[in-house]
Parts: sequence; C-alpha cells; structure tokens
Amino acid sequence: MTKFNLEFCNMLSAEKHKFEYKYLLKRFGSIGTVGRWIRKYVDRHGFIILQGLESESYDLSSAKLFLTKLSSHIGTLVPHNLGQSDFVWEIKPKSSISQIVTFSEHNKAAPLHTDSQYRKLPEKYMALLVFRQAECAGGETLLLDFNLVFNELKKSYLGRQTIEFACKTKFPIAVPTIFQTQNKTAYIYSSLISDIPMIRYRYDTLKTGLELIKHSHVKDFEEKLQVFNDLIHTSRYCSSLLLNNGEAIFVDNHRMLHGRSPFLDSNRLLLRIRMN
Ligand SMILES: [Fe+2]
Repeated sequence: MTKFNLEFCNMLSAEKHKFEYKYLLKRFGSIGTVGRWIRKYVDRHGFIILQGLESESYDLSSAKLFLTKLSSHIGTLVPHNLGQSDFVWEIKPKSSISQIVTFSEHNKAAPLHTDSQYRKLPEKYMALLVFRQAECAGGETLLLDFNLVFNELKKSYLGRQTIEFACKTKFPIAVPTIFQTQNKTAYIYSSLISDIPMIRYRYDTLKTGLELIKHSHVKDFEEKLQVFNDLIHTSRYCSSLLLNNGEAIFVDNHRMLHGRSPFLDSNRLLLRIRMN
C-alpha cells in the first residue's frame, strides 16, 4: 500500500476490542486471571487493546515491569535474542549500521508483516505498550486479520492459486542483522502459509532473501510474491488506529499482520514483548 493508502483501510472496528485495565482487574480480581482471560480473548478475536495503563507506567522501569508481569500471565516470555533475558524491547528510532535493518530501528513506514518471520517458529503473541506516542500524530498502527483474507482468497481462482503458492513454496527469508546469531544465519527457508503459524510475512526480508540465493526460479518467486503483497495491502479488512499513551495491544502473531505509518517525533517510544 503506497505510503499507507489509508483509504484502503477501514476505519476501525477496534473500539469493540478496547477494555479498561482497571475494569478487568476489578472484574477478575487478579493480574493473573486478567492475563489468562486476555490470552483466551486474543485466541478468539486476534487482538485486544487495553486502556488506562498510565498509572502502571508512570516511568520507564515501571512500564517495563508491568508489561513483563502481565505478559508472563498470558504466555511464556521469549527473549528478543535467544539465550538472553532481553524480554522487553524499546521501539524507538536509532542510528543503525545494520545491513538488514528491522522496523524497530527506524521511523519510516513499516508495511504489514508478522514478527519473527525469520525464526523457525515465530512467537504466538506479540504486545506493544505505548510509553510515549509521537507528537506529530504519525505512528498509526495497521492491523489485518489474515484469517479473513484467507477465507476471501479461497473464493477466487487467483486467490486459490496464491494460497497454493504461499503454502507450497519454500521462501528464503532474510534474518535482520541485529537478530543474526553467532553462526550468522543470513536466511531461513519457509512457506508463507502453514498450519502453525497460519501466516509469516514481511515483504522486505522476503525480497532480501531472494537476493541472497541463486535460484533459477527467482523471477517467478518475485512475480508471485508481488501478487501476494498486493492482495494483502489492498485488503478491505485492513484497519488503522492510533494507540495513545497508556494503551497496549496484544496480538496473535500467527494470524494477524501488523504495521505502522511513518512518524517524525524521535521521542516516540513503544515497548514490545513476545510470548508463546
Ligand atoms: Fe512488528
């Protein structure tokens, strides 16, 4: 979607998936029960938004502690770098020397994608807590439920062909430099659609992966990838929303694609955590 043609995005049905954290805590009685309820809700609906977390995140260390605590009741926390304890990741623009830069390192648009698409098994859940939203009003969150896209694709010939390609073709998916392990694995091979995860996708790491391999079918891969990408980015099910300070979103990373519009405010700061 060129420069996030938001006209393709439905203005949001996200309101019905927003809940006041304090209300949930009162209703369920403990943070543990709230966490388990959130997991069930995300399994059913694909995502949930919590509001009113300002008092839980009045400074950065409190925000990290709260996000870690709540998320540990939703699933098993997964570090951003395997073998380390870096569960909470700060998403803010940084100067980067990485060859393959990841979205959390810059302030440009992040087209629809799933997280950790370069891992053998991407994490089931991903959460973002807004500690400081951009004052320029950029940094909108994009969401797309691939379950809806999949069911629509099944209805047309082109759609069924695209599904077959995405299920059967093993794609080289580049690993962002910052997450390359000691053996410097540059890419992995995987299909885009499978049983678990239903979808793994990030256009730029797929394109980079294709540049890294020498394969007689690269041209064909690229053409079909472009069709797949266009179908995703013009989907009528795409939504956009601006998360405010003190709000957090929990997403099923095996089913939902997410993205972000560009922003200018270099003080924007989101916290990310992932779970299984
Ligand atoms: Fe992401």
